[in-house]
Amino acid sequence: MDIRIAPVTKANRALVTALRLAPEQMDFVASNADSLREARSDRDARPRAVTAGDQLVGFLMYEAPRDDDEARIYRFMIDRAWQGRGYGKAALRAVLEEIRGLGHIRHVSICYEPENEAARRLYRSAGFVEEGLDEDGEMIADLVLPTGDR
Ligand SMILES: CC(C)(COP(=O)(O)OP(=O)(O)OC[C@H]1O[C@@H](n2cnc3c(N)ncnc32)[C@H](O)[C@@H]1OP(=O)(O)O)[C@@H](O)C(=O)NCCC(=O)NCCS
Repeated sequence: MDIRIAPVTKANRALVTALRLAPEQMDFVASNADSLREARSDRDARPRAVTAGDQLVGFLMYEAPRDDDEARIYRFMIDRAWQGRGYGKAALRAVLEEIRGLGHIRHVSICYEPENEAARRLYRSAGFVEEGLDEDGEMIADLVLPTGDR
């Protein structure tokens, strides 16, 4: 499965904003247009397009400030037409690999609505451990990166 992540550019921006969720998923994550707007004024934001071969299938965004050992993945979605094929799992693997490659990150946090069962299972299978609800009622989960060959 050839799943990759790549920066959002002028060339793929319109395709990223055209990605869609099922109606019942729309409260789980901000729209990609809003996320890209937000990224313009936040130099820590790293928006990424998710591709399967030549096909754009999803979008995610994270931050990994240089003066911190924690990265935060705060947007993650696979287009409704491409869900359930293992692309989310592969994209998560790809972004964790990219984060690990930065060299200064020791752990990664992620948050999701407590009723978002698909997200919970996906993140749990990657090793994220739930830490409890934040002040907005969102579940926070954390993954300690293996130090391995760093
Ligand atoms: C969560 C999401 C990214 C998963 O993407 P996906 O490509 O469908 O996921 P995958 O096919 O790689 O499945 C990975 C795991 O997620 C879980 N999962 C995915 N869809 C699920 C569903 N409908 N119900 C329960 N678990 C589900 C499963 O554990 C699955 O692993 P398994 O098949 O080995 O059991 C996708 O459903 C999505 O975009 N949802 C809406 C946005 C969202 O909720 N984002 C996360 C919060 S920011």
